[in-house]
Amino acid sequence: MKASVVAHRDYPISTIDDRVYGAFLEHLGRAIYTGIYEPGHPTVDANGMRGDVVKLVKDLKVPIVRYPGGNFVSAYNWEDGVGPRDKRPTRLDLAWHTSESNAVGVHEFAQWCEAAGTEMMLAINLGSRGLDSARNFVEYVNGPTGSYWGDLRKTNGRATPFGVRHWCLGNEMDGPWQVGHKTADEYGRLANEVAKTLRAFDRSLELIVCGSSNSDMKTYPEWERIVLEHTYDAIDHISLHMYFANRAKNTADYLALSAKLDAYIATIASTIEFVRARKRSRKRVTISFDEWNVWYHSNAQDREILGGAKGWPHAPRLLEDIYNFEDALQVGCILNTFIRRSDVVKIACIAQLVNVIAPIMTEPGGAAWRQTIYYPYYFASVYGRGEALRLSVKSPGYDSEVADNVPYLDIAGVHDAGRALTFFAVNRHPGEKLDLEIDLQGFGAATIADHQTLAGAPLEAVNTLAQPLAVAPKKGSGASVKDGRLTASLPAHSYQMIRLALA
Ligand code: AHR
Repeated sequence: MKASVVAHRDYPISTIDDRVYGAFLEHLGRAIYTGIYEPGHPTVDANGMRGDVVKLVKDLKVPIVRYPGGNFVSAYNWEDGVGPRDKRPTRLDLAWHTSESNAVGVHEFAQWCEAAGTEMMLAINLGSRGLDSARNFVEYVNGPTGSYWGDLRKTNGRATPFGVRHWCLGNEMDGPWQVGHKTADEYGRLANEVAKTLRAFDRSLELIVCGSSNSDMKTYPEWERIVLEHTYDAIDHISLHMYFANRAKNTADYLALSAKLDAYIATIASTIEFVRARKRSRKRVTISFDEWNVWYHSNAQDREILGGAKGWPHAPRLLEDIYNFEDALQVGCILNTFIRRSDVVKIACIAQLVNVIAPIMTEPGGAAWRQTIYYPYYFASVYGRGEALRLSVKSPGYDSEVADNVPYLDIAGVHDAGRALTFFAVNRHPGEKLDLEIDLQGFGAATIADHQTLAGAPLEAVNTLAQPLAVAPKKGSGASVKDGRLTASLPAHSYQMIRLALA
């Protein structure tokens, strides 16, 4: 099988926003407790944070982390997580049927972000609470001392404002499962009032309204239209979520799901344009895809806890999907989609970062390791910075449940300011290698600087505490550049990162 691509230096799609490689951490299962925070762990820092996890997160160069939920946030009192630890209440978490000790709150999370070299993106409870607690929270986090909330923050150990720029106005408010679920009109009106109020405090904040929880929601995409009609002038981004699953055990259909993701983004980009035209606005609202990942492996084992059969456990093993090689290919295709839609997707957060549907796993008191999906996320985040190229792609394809003629070759190209050119490619074919030829136009002399592959593993291969490296990248071979053409052979069911140095 052959595929050909043309890449021209002068035809970029857009500059990729670094925030597209963001992540998400929720008070859920072991994401926080024994995930990032574990006093007594051998690698712990002065704040009780696991050093081994910080190291893996730093390697990923995660630019921004959304916190503290998720469904959790819709019944969360942020005040419970500040002040002396021994005075913080233990609460029942209604979203996940667990107990929340509040040992970690916004101060501790800020310390972790500093250690991990990342920025906070905070979500506000617009489920059980509303305008007043939203403005108090923002003033507490960002307000000056000399005022009530700033002074309280100082009393709690932090005089300097945290300076958090990104604020999510609620979470999945279209979902009937959400505490405080609302209609699009109810939510749109509230979100607009909250946005106006927060802007009165600080005009420079970046505010994110809830779009759909997924594109199968009955209210999609009318939800986005109505919410944007209410909020367009007051907000910056609309959030989308999508989780991927292969319940039918059909790899071809599963790997085609990025076509559904692409259609989802295209529909909401059009909805934004529609509302923009109706408002006669020059402003461009963009997409914050602030929850995405594979999520289905752990569904069955989670039912007992979520159904309440185990009472209210603290930090139990929940949503601990163990990812296989097939999922790594999927994550490669998802990230390629975000790169190709970097014109409109300006923030994206892998959901989540540690233990809970996550690229990083930990054992309490023991090791931390990389799941299979860590690697495509790592390569995209570390090498996928710069301009996304408008590639012209010719590849054979196949018909799937969600789309026809899905190309066997899924590819994205990134040009880093005349220094480097990187291609991320997935061969979706189950049995045939793909001979790839890329015509490089306008880049001058190029040489192979690095070539990494994930290939040759059984689709069900996983990384575990006992075998953390069962699926790991290997140095690729055979790629070459000659007469302005890059050629490479992509094995069946494989992921590749090919990086060229430009003269
Ligand atoms: O990431 C897990 C959950 O998925 C989040 O809490 C929620 O927003 C989504 O439904």
